[in-house]
This record gives sequence, structure tokens and C-alpha cells, in this order.
Amino acid sequence: MSADAPENSTASGSTPAGPNHVAIIMDGNGRWAQRQGMPRLAGHRAGTDNVRRVLEALDRAGVRYVTLFAFSTENWGRPEEEVSGLLELLGSIIEDQVRDLHAGNIRILHLGTQDNLPGGLADAVREAVEHTRENSGLTLCVAFDYGGRQEIVEAVRRVMAAGLAPEDVDEDSLRSFFYLPDVPDPDLVIRTGGEQRLSNFLIWQTAYAEFYETPALWPDFDDAEVERALDEYRRRQRRFGVLPDGPSPSEPPAAPEIAHRG
Ligand code: FPP
Repeated sequence: MSADAPENSTASGSTPAGPNHVAIIMDGNGRWAQRQGMPRLAGHRAGTDNVRRVLEALDRAGVRYVTLFAFSTENWGRPEEEVSGLLELLGSIIEDQVRDLHAGNIRILHLGTQDNLPGGLADAVREAVEHTRENSGLTLCVAFDYGGRQEIVEAVRRVMAAGLAPEDVDEDSLRSFFYLPDVPDPDLVIRTGGEQRLSNFLIWQTAYAEFYETPALWPDFDDAEVERALDEYRRRQRRFGVLPDGPSPSEPPAAPEIAHRG
């Protein structure tokens, strides 16, 4: 499938049946812990426990790709104890859950850079990806040490290293240098925890995604919350920049003539 073509919706403004790819900003773990009088890491642990429940609900709803924003390039700036706790959580997820995810036919992909991860953890991530490579069920993309701006900068560097001529650089060729070029764009971005921003998450790929925000903190984001988000998505009218009965994005309207700035 082309990365641009949504599977479940038409481009001319129809109501989509359901999202093919859901990307989630799992916010609110710290506040959840504080409300229970617990340290922040306890919130991240509760958030980790919630991942399985949400994956199962999305899988049942027919979602084929899920991307979870687990650790951003900016998160290295958090207190050392929290950073090492999050690295440990990633390690424990791999150790405790990869077997189950594999049994559930889930394919795991890593989104981001592995350069800054401790060696053993980077190896474990690569092994998890390799181990589940042939699975044909839901694809789980774990964004860990991921930043959208960094992804674009790295892609540009690779374009230059590959020696592409300026006229050969277009949306498709640039995209082919992204971390996961074959994963289709998200249809729906969910952000828990009440904030309304993208926080450098998939800033290119979400150009036409529907955004859903909920005050629910990530550890409290349960099956009913998943259903609410999907219901809201189904009520949206996706237009991809054209009018409801206009041409599809594969037949874009003729561009107005504009003077080149040189
Ligand atoms: C934001 O909440 C959450 C994070 C920075 C980490 C999210 C990570 C997990 C849920 C662990 C799952 C891990 C994997 C590998 C799938 P916050 O701490 O910023 O919350 P706050 O806004 O309430 O402080």
C-alpha cells in the first residue's frame, strides 16, 4: 500500500470506517502517579501495563498499525533517575512481553535512533524487531528516542550522502529516507493527559491525521476510552485539503502558477 493512501477512507470527504494507523502520545503518567502519592516512575510502570490493554482493543477494532510515543529526543533532559527508569522499562517490556506479542502475531518495529541507547538495550531492540519480523498481524511501532525534526534532518543528510540531484528530491524520495518509510501515515493521533500539541511526534507523517485529545491520563485510558476515540474518528470528515466532492489526492487540482523565488 502506498504510504499516502489511507486504506479505509476515500479522499473526497467521506466518513472513514476506522483508522488503519493510530499513533498515541501517552501523556499523564507523572500526574497519575502524583495523584496516588507515588513516585513518577510508578506512573510510567502503570502506563507500561496499559499498553497491552490498548493494543488489544485497537487490534479488535481492526487497526493494523499502532505507533506509541514512549521516549522523545527531548526526554533525555528529564532527571537522570527518570531517564534510567524509562530505559529499564523498555528493557523489561522487551524481556517480559515480546514472547506474548510474538504469540499474538504482532510485528514490532523501532522508530527513532538506537545510537544513544545502552549497547545491551539497542541489541535487545534489534532482536525483538528481528524475532517478530515475519508476523502478519498488527504492526507495533515503538517510538523510543524519536524526534520528528531529527528524523527530517537525518533524512536530508542521507539524501545528500546518496548524492541525489535537487530535482530528484520530492516528497516520495525524501520519505524513503525516513526511519520507517513503508509504514503508512497515521490516520488518527490520540493524545492523553489533556494537552493539545504534537510535541515533535511524526510531524511530517501527521500532515492530514485527525487529532483526538482526552483529559484521561494514560494509565486510565481504557477500552471505553479507546472506543470513544474511534467513535469520534468515525464521525470526522476527512478532506485531505480538497472539497468534499473534489478530486482525490492522486488527482490534485492544478496548481496555480506562481513565480519562482529562485
Ligand atoms: C509522558 O508522561 C510519558 C512518557 C514520557 C513515557 C511514556 C512511556 C510509557 C508509558 C512506557 C511504555 C513504554 C514502551 C516502550 C511502550 P509524563 O511523565 O510526561 O506525564 P505528566 O505530563 O503527567 O508528567
